[in-house]
Amino acid sequence: MEPGALGRWHLARAHYSSRGYTLDLVATLTLSSRASLLKPSPTLSITAKANALKAEGADVVSFAAGEPDFDTPDAIKDAAVRALAAGFTKYTPTSGIKDLKEAIVAKLARENGVSVTPEQVVVSAGAKLSVYEIMQILLDPGDEVLLIAPYWMTYAEQIRLAGGEPVVVQTTGQTGFIPSIDDIREAISSRTKAIIVNSPCNPTGAVFPRDTLEGLAALANRHGFWIVSDEIYERLVYGGIEQVSIASLDRETAERTITVNGCSKTFAMTGWRIGYLAAPTQVAKAVTNLQDQMTSNATSFAQKGAVQALKLDPAEVEKMRSEFEARRDLVAGLLSEIPRVPITVPGGAFYILPDFSAYLGGQVATDLDLAGYLLDEAQVATVPGSVFEAPGHLRLSYAASRTDIQKGVARIREALSKLQ
Ligand SMILES: Cc1ncc(COP(=O)(O)O)c(C=O)c1O
Repeated sequence: MEPGALGRWHLARAHYSSRGYTLDLVATLTLSSRASLLKPSPTLSITAKANALKAEGADVVSFAAGEPDFDTPDAIKDAAVRALAAGFTKYTPTSGIKDLKEAIVAKLARENGVSVTPEQVVVSAGAKLSVYEIMQILLDPGDEVLLIAPYWMTYAEQIRLAGGEPVVVQTTGQTGFIPSIDDIREAISSRTKAIIVNSPCNPTGAVFPRDTLEGLAALANRHGFWIVSDEIYERLVYGGIEQVSIASLDRETAERTITVNGCSKTFAMTGWRIGYLAAPTQVAKAVTNLQDQMTSNATSFAQKGAVQALKLDPAEVEKMRSEFEARRDLVAGLLSEIPRVPITVPGGAFYILPDFSAYLGGQVATDLDLAGYLLDEAQVATVPGSVFEAPGHLRLSYAASRTDIQKGVARIREALSKLQ
């Protein structure tokens, strides 16, 4: 027995056998310290409650969704059905099928000004998995990753799971949730290994302007850290705003940037689980080695659907994008009529993050309380801002019908008026 191993044995159990009574040592069943790092998502309790209310027949308006409410376009479904019918149901190369990787390379060159080879691309079962893999292959214990808050909470969890530490750079609605380069500079230390950039951003909808990305890239180049650019919402931008892929800025920046994207949001394919990353070759190889030991390839016929998605008639995406833009205008207009609720009009994605601090106090003291109150009082489901390190705010997803947006915001207004 190894020294110290006895520490894991906590119980002795008497056991009768043909040799008489013996004592068995029995270990208590414990989980890894890694497992104890995992935090339950506060969103889940709101969603579970909203679903339970709906099941009871309540007329719940949900602004909690993190996915488009459109169906996947038919051309994409047809491609996957054809692949299934043709028996395309076996393992594929871990990093993805050749035609999908080539379609991704072509898309990145055409739409993002990012130049990579198929060897630099790894297809995965969702952008979420790609980010997880990146954290696993970049971070050693104690490495720091700069996170621009408010941020998608998954980043912080995945950094911690890899032994790293999130270092938060705060932004506010007053500056459109755009980070200041000085604030980023101040957060850099000798342990900074990477920064995560998410533009358009979940939960703020902020689209970082070119000069912010240039300033950020200059810092990464000077101090020598990686840039992870999650561009999953890149096609959902409004009012002619420019979406810049940071890897397109210059060669030096491209060599330290890992671009993450996927089919979920642009093509309404959340359930298909197709994401990808494009990275310097050493990163792509390491991610492939890791994925070899985890999921292996993304689902074979879903990859065929993704090939079709990347070749889709742009008019199909435009239909969804322009509907989201109309809803953004609607929700922003309605919310701006509520007294003392400052909003920042989002430039992209399908979220808005109004500040409800003026209504907090007494029984409804926090944004978590407010989300619970709105669900109970007004049957409106929202996500508390604390989840994204934005206390006092609520995230409203406008991946909901215009009728629901009208009804839901009117109910919020009415419920808030009862608080004062
Ligand atoms: C910022 C961000 N990145 C990635 C994802 C996940 O994408 P996928 O469905 O490809 O895993 C989400 C989903 O909510 C997201 O908000």
